[in-house]
Parts: sequence; C-alpha cells; structure tokens
Amino acid sequence: MSAQTFDWMGQSIPFRTGESITAALEAAGIRTFGPDALGQETRYFCGIGACQCCLLRVDGVVREACITPAKTGMHVEALERRHD
Ligand code: FES
Repeated sequence: MSAQTFDWMGQSIPFRTGESITAALEAAGIRTFGPDALGQETRYFCGIGACQCCLLRVDGVVREACITPAKTGMHVEALERRHD
C-alpha cells in the first residue's frame, strides 16, 4: 500500500489517517509555513483553531491548517509567496 501524501509547495508530505495538515508538516520538519498577507510568518501555535496563526491555502480555500485533516492529493500552500 502506498503512503498517503499531500502536496506542500511542490513537496510531497506523508501523513497518517486523522492527522492535521500542521501535524504532518511538523513531522516532516517544516516549522514555519510562509508569510501571511501582512508579512507575518504563519506557524503552528494554539492547535485548536483559535489563533489563526496557521492559516494556509488548501485547494484554493484559506483554512486553519491545525484543524484541517490532511487528505490524499490535496494542495497546500502559503498564503503569500516570499519575496526574497
Ligand atoms: S495554530 Fe492556532 S488556529 Fe491553527
């Protein structure tokens, strides 16, 4: 059986059934998730959907990634691109 994965900015991220997007990203060593519209770095913080520190675009819709279950084939990206 192949591993369950979703796409994070072009990178394939494995996850276990029931895991949130942020849990899978953290398990993959990804601790910050790119800037939001105000340039603040998004990251895991409260884990209960209250702080909105982990907002990401999931299949084109902005969601709290800490309470959004990972699903096979979903596309997850930062709200904004870095402009280095
Ligand atoms: S970490 Fe607070 S809403 Fe997701």
